[in-house]
Amino acid sequence: MVGSSWALVFARAGFEVSVYDQSAAAVGDTLTFVRAALDDLSAQGLGGAESADVVHARLKPVTTLEAALEGVDYIQESAPERLEIKRELYQRLDAIAAPNIILASSTSGLPASSFTETLAHRERCLVVHPINPPHLVPLVELVPAPWTDAVVLARAAELMRHAGQSPIQLSREINGFVVNRLQSALLGEAFRLVEDGICSSADVDKAMSDGLGLRWFFMGPFETIDLNAKNGVAEYCKNLGAMYYGLAKEQADPREWKTPLVESIEQQRRQVTTASGLAARRSWRDRCLAAFVAAKRRVLDEQQTASTTE
Ligand SMILES: NC(=O)c1ccc[n+]([C@@H]2O[C@H](COP(=O)([O-])OP(=O)(O)OC[C@H]3O[C@@H](n4cnc5c(N)ncnc54)[C@H](O)[C@@H]3O)[C@@H](O)[C@H]2O)c1
Repeated sequence: MVGSSWALVFARAGFEVSVYDQSAAAVGDTLTFVRAALDDLSAQGLGGAESADVVHARLKPVTTLEAALEGVDYIQESAPERLEIKRELYQRLDAIAAPNIILASSTSGLPASSFTETLAHRERCLVVHPINPPHLVPLVELVPAPWTDAVVLARAAELMRHAGQSPIQLSREINGFVVNRLQSALLGEAFRLVEDGICSSADVDKAMSDGLGLRWFFMGPFETIDLNAKNGVAEYCKNLGAMYYGLAKEQADPREWKTPLVESIEQQRRQVTTASGLAARRSWRDRCLAAFVAAKRRVLDEQQTASTTE
């Protein structure tokens, strides 16, 4: 899933991309995915100056890891989220790839130190964590292991910027990195509200899609609260800090997502989207994302022009 979207990110930035997967069918799926995604991007005016054929032609399907590493500068590893798979793969990558080739992992939660510690050239390894699908969602988290070379980190950040992504850099490894820590706070409260019968899963979703999410689409929580008090963030904290502290104390006891609760949410969700409809809904999400990304760019550009001419 993620590797296919990455292939598109690099190809549209002008790089030749070797596509390797241990499953030949998955390599074919990547080529098909990229072709369809390029057409969707063109339909939204996000296709760029080059034709879809030119971008697609930069993808080179290969059948061995050795072939994948020939002539490359950077590897975006997107193998399954299983420690034993990553460990074995990095042993092979480190043995085959020249020491100046950066080995970046898409891992959502495994620190690079957990699968690179014993490698001869572990200083060229780091996490470059995307948000799915990275060809539409630009944020990437750069997370160094304790032994990641600062030059490697800087080169990866520069590559991401060059490819149109939006990197943030963590100072050190931490469980969940930044994005999943933020998401975990929100999901923890979402499950709690449903478990306590305060509202349905559909209403939690609505609170985000028709509420908080509209602002979060183009500004973060700090800018949001900075604008929500007449004199800015300090005044907001003075007015509402005690309320949030009280809420945080209520949320302090972590809760497991127990099976009956998960089953109930699964049932609620399947009434909205059937199991067989999930793939189509995912494509719908990606089309919406492309349209919103296009609109966001246009609106922010217009506002920027308006404020510089004021
Ligand atoms: N899916 C997401 O939303 C998402 C988001 C961000 C990061 N990630 C991370 O990206 C990585 C990939 O996730 P995904 O959802 O794309 O997984 P996926 O299951 O869709 O793809 C993994 C691919 O790796 C291949 N593979 C397995 N072992 C291999 C090996 N030894 N060598 C080469 N290929 C191998 C599989 O055949 C499969 O095609 C994971 O680390 C995941 O945590 C996923």
